[in-house]
Amino acid sequence: MISATEEHRVVEEVPKQLLIGGEWRDAGEGGWFEVEDPSTGEALCEVADGTAEDALAALGAAAETQPEWATHAPRERGEILRRAYEALNDRADELALLMTLEMGKPLADSRAEVVYAAEFFRWFAEEAVRIDGRYTVSADGTHRTLVIRQPVGPCLLITPWNFPMAMGTRKIGPAIAAGCTMVMKPARYTPLSMLALARILEEAGLPPGVLNVLTTRSSGRTMAPIIEDRRCRKLSFTGSTEVGAKLMEQASSNLLRLSMELGGNAPFVVFEDADLDAAVEGALVAKLRNMGESCVAANRFHVAEPIAEEFARRLAERIGVLTVGRGTDDGVDVGPLVDEDQRAIVTDLVGDAVAKGARCLVGGERIDGPGYFYRPTVLDGVPPDARLLKEEIFGPVAPIATFGTEEEGIAAANDTEYGLVAYVYTRDLSRAFRVIEALETGMVGLNRGIVSNPAAPFGGIKHSGFGREGGVEGIVEYLEVKHVAMSP
Ligand code: SIN
Repeated sequence: MISATEEHRVVEEVPKQLLIGGEWRDAGEGGWFEVEDPSTGEALCEVADGTAEDALAALGAAAETQPEWATHAPRERGEILRRAYEALNDRADELALLMTLEMGKPLADSRAEVVYAAEFFRWFAEEAVRIDGRYTVSADGTHRTLVIRQPVGPCLLITPWNFPMAMGTRKIGPAIAAGCTMVMKPARYTPLSMLALARILEEAGLPPGVLNVLTTRSSGRTMAPIIEDRRCRKLSFTGSTEVGAKLMEQASSNLLRLSMELGGNAPFVVFEDADLDAAVEGALVAKLRNMGESCVAANRFHVAEPIAEEFARRLAERIGVLTVGRGTDDGVDVGPLVDEDQRAIVTDLVGDAVAKGARCLVGGERIDGPGYFYRPTVLDGVPPDARLLKEEIFGPVAPIATFGTEEEGIAAANDTEYGLVAYVYTRDLSRAFRVIEALETGMVGLNRGIVSNPAAPFGGIKHSGFGREGGVEGIVEYLEVKHVAMSP
């Protein structure tokens, strides 16, 4: 059990100001906004409410630092990331507590996120020294071609509240490794994990001005001047498809390089030949990691008719015994949702499905009292017109629908404008290949309920966006290609 004093201490120790050009400073207009604990609805602290002028100052610092940072030795850039990786692991417990307080997920999940976040730094520490190019002789032998890769330049990085640290490290890591400077704008719900991370990077030796952090409660108004400023060269965004599309429109006049990691509507497809135990275990992870508040959360379960009832019964049995509560309490499996709006969306989606004929096997209700808790839920017999098969749920709700043939299973999985990830359970290797190739997604979990891995390219297609984070692909997003034609 964590004491109130300990909770207070970890929050107190985090810087609450803006980080611009290596200085922690108040917002230009002196404003502050509250950060809330979603498990109580009470304020944890206040952080600086950055303005458009602060945003331009942050971009100015990034732009000024860019030329020097671009020439910094790759090994040194990697060493900074490596030291930050170690510090994150050393301080994983206190950072996990901080994350749980501002975001709500159980401590074990927060700890797992800190480790996941740190791994991006380790991965990109190793990639910093592997930025290469090529040298070729032209086809007619008259000249030579040199291809070099250089940092894109100052980047604007915008991160979501659901993974407040890992979504940051997977943008900051490759940016540092590639030699880019940046302005980081964390989500207003969860700025503390990012502010703590910025302090760790400072301590790891990151030069002033490379990372500038701008907290603000009014993202759109504050970020617009950066997006439209010629000094900014790239925008990397993780968040909803709706906001991503608006940012793309804004960024078009400045022709920014873009990486967009947007919404998902992941199908979890279980074929008749699947290992049912493994499928249920995978379903628990794919659905309940982060309380379902993840773009890679299994959004809908499509299960072959002959095994659907058994799968639903077993999943409901496992989900029905989970403990819901404050993430800092011992034995809690599922924390609160991020706010009342999110809980209202989940409540509405479940209500719609039940009204259209779905059967609630477990859960299906909000938990009254302080905080934004919603009981983990399994619905079966979900009809095709239920909204939760089409819309991103972002909550602990597992809707189960059935399919007949393999082709029908694939068609159901692809019946969405999103294309981030799909999960497939089958023991038939030929079927596995057929299905993987037919799925319209950027990622597939085959007999596995989680795909996230800093060494693999994370990202989607269709309305889930474009660009990849992590893997050898991750750093490419922060590099420009220059071709030099040379006469011998
Ligand atoms: C997300 O939900 O945005 C990303 C989750 C992950 O990296 O696993």
